Amino acid sequence: MIAFNPSRYQFGHFLKKSIFLSFLLFWSITSAWAQQATIIPIETQRFGMALQVGTDKRVGIIHFGTKLNNSAEYQYAPAMYRRGDDYSGILNAAYTPSGSRNLVEPAIQVTHADGNTSLDLQYVRHNVQKTDNNVSTTSVVLRDPVYGLEVTLYYKVYTAEDVVEQWSVIKNNEKGNVTLNKYASANLYVSANNYWLKHYHGDWAKEMQTEETRLTPGIKVLDTKLGTRANLYQPPSFMVSLDRPATEDEGRVLYGSVEWTGNFRVDLEVDPLNNLRLIAGINPHASEYTLTKGQEFTTPLFLYTYSDKGKGAASRNLHRWARNYRIMQGNGSRLTLLNNWEATYFDFNEPKLAELIKDTKRLGVDMFLLDDGWFANKYPRNADNAGLGDWQENVKKLPHGIGYLVKEAQNNQVKFGIWVEPEMVNPKSELYEKHPDWVIRQPKREEHLYRNQLVLDLSNPKVQDFVFGVLDNIMTKNPNVAFFKWDCNAVIYNAHSEYLKNKQSHLYVDYVRGLYKVLERFRAKYPDLPMMLCSGGGGRVDYGALKYFTEFWVSDNTDPLERIFMQYEYSYFFPAIAHDNHVTDWGKQPIKYRTDVAMMGKLGFDIVVSKLEPNDLQFCQDAVKTYKSLSDVIWHGDLYRLANPRDNDFASVMYVNEAKNRAVMFNYLVSNRYGAGTLSPVKMGGLDPNKKYQVKEINLYPGTQSSITGNTSYSGNYLMTVGFNPNVNARRTSVILEITEAR
Ligand code: DGJ
Repeated sequence: MIAFNPSRYQFGHFLKKSIFLSFLLFWSITSAWAQQATIIPIETQRFGMALQVGTDKRVGIIHFGTKLNNSAEYQYAPAMYRRGDDYSGILNAAYTPSGSRNLVEPAIQVTHADGNTSLDLQYVRHNVQKTDNNVSTTSVVLRDPVYGLEVTLYYKVYTAEDVVEQWSVIKNNEKGNVTLNKYASANLYVSANNYWLKHYHGDWAKEMQTEETRLTPGIKVLDTKLGTRANLYQPPSFMVSLDRPATEDEGRVLYGSVEWTGNFRVDLEVDPLNNLRLIAGINPHASEYTLTKGQEFTTPLFLYTYSDKGKGAASRNLHRWARNYRIMQGNGSRLTLLNNWEATYFDFNEPKLAELIKDTKRLGVDMFLLDDGWFANKYPRNADNAGLGDWQENVKKLPHGIGYLVKEAQNNQVKFGIWVEPEMVNPKSELYEKHPDWVIRQPKREEHLYRNQLVLDLSNPKVQDFVFGVLDNIMTKNPNVAFFKWDCNAVIYNAHSEYLKNKQSHLYVDYVRGLYKVLERFRAKYPDLPMMLCSGGGGRVDYGALKYFTEFWVSDNTDPLERIFMQYEYSYFFPAIAHDNHVTDWGKQPIKYRTDVAMMGKLGFDIVVSKLEPNDLQFCQDAVKTYKSLSDVIWHGDLYRLANPRDNDFASVMYVNEAKNRAVMFNYLVSNRYGAGTLSPVKMGGLDPNKKYQVKEINLYPGTQSSITGNTSYSGNYLMTVGFNPNVNARRTSVILEITEAR
């Protein structure tokens, strides 16, 4: 029996303890070193996200928000949260797998070649590739240690604009086919006390209705399953304020948008630790995708920007990014136009159009845009139920073809643009009779139409050739056509492709890929031709499509009152140069109000010019001139939202040019309650506090005068601190102010 010797015990204990402590010290030093060595910062000028490779090789997100001055300090962030335990250890995964230890919403879910459904993703390597001083891409390769399936996460940063585009490439390294059940573009992990989601919904003529709600534990899903015209009910753009709803100038906010012109899904999950897990990408609904051995799947891009200076700064960053990098000719100019859709609908002929072309010139705009109804002979396109798909000029309406109209336009020194809707078909058409196999429909089920039409199967290369040919034929025969309006009015019912045979679940994805192939081909041949993205209004406004378009049609609803609200909401995500706004006969407001509202983006008209009263015509002609003189500020300037129509009796927004020597402020009454108007000054934004400015009311209706004459000079400091009263009231429902640096 060994006697108990306390001193020996204490010495031994001391020895063990010091060995243990030295080991602990060594371990903590080396592990701190190891941790430091495996932090992957994704940073822009003001935004920072830190990925950390754990000792178990799993990659998690440990910081998302304002960038730290010293990226070595990101590693300390996780220890500051005392929100409970993450038993799985992967709640913060940079790309959450499914079927192994994860119990929350996955970013990726697969069925392996052997039928197994588990996935683990471990760090392999990462790399940073610099494009130029502003743009670089970090890639992080992850691999399943058992199955070899590989996922590469890409983070492309635009430093000055504080924008990140994220996507994933999934590679099948297995011996047989792998099925992708879910395959998100991005997976983010954000820590705040509260999350306020501002998202959108709507329908035809009701685009961009909005809600701002606090996210509670559980999952909120934003998604669409419509196939084409995908964001008719729900756009892929949203924002999340952290802690409390951000205002224009204050608060932390993340803007997100899925760059995909089809079914998307965004999961916003507040997890058991009160962190926000955000997963965005293609909607996996009915879209399992098979990868053959060695094949890769590249997801679409998920775009985000983060601001800790409120929603205004986030918008301006996104606008700058869109103009510099995404929207075609984002820093270029746009063609003002006269469209005939609401002036004639389908009821026109050559002489009538020739008159409208003369009106285009009379109005002073750049182009005449011929809308729907110019084609098809066996089943003439005289209403929306026939002829779609038969893209030959209707010989009764246009006996001398498009060429005659292009010439007429040239004779009047204006340009000529034309409407197409090449992805869709009316069952009452020759195209449908000849190629029923090109149409998306269930062979054994009754057809269900949307606006009397069906969707062509763009997963089929022959259909891609046809769709490309619709535009290419017009251009080949009429090289002076200067503009296309590309419309898309149907959703996909009865999703089934004759072409895809036993790969039906590829249809939604391959449709969009087919569309992009056509648009790539079109752009390769016609790189500069301006084109409007239209989808029965704004049913398809996403940054995946806008790569190929110069602008988008905001909504068929052109009631200016409604437009103020819609354009205000679109302005969070898309710069004014991309908004197509037309003056029409919708709404009860006078022509000045309607025109002023349309001037906030790209101005167009869709009215019967010949029926305008002389003063109205004079006003429109003057407005076009005024607009042209201001368009540089509106198209390329910075946007400041000054008064939200949802919170006020009026709306005010302002555009300021880069040199801060010229600005324009639009103000509208949106309430008809007694005494409604701008009772107090409206604080301006974006000016130079040290410059002096003159403020003058412009775009006055003939015969009216304004007391805001530009005779007084105010400092930028005054205009942004005290503000200026545009004096909007029931007698002055729409007021445009020009702000110029005083000489
Ligand atoms: C829907 C568009 O949004 C309208 O502007 C017009 O082009 C019609 N289609 C034509 O059918």
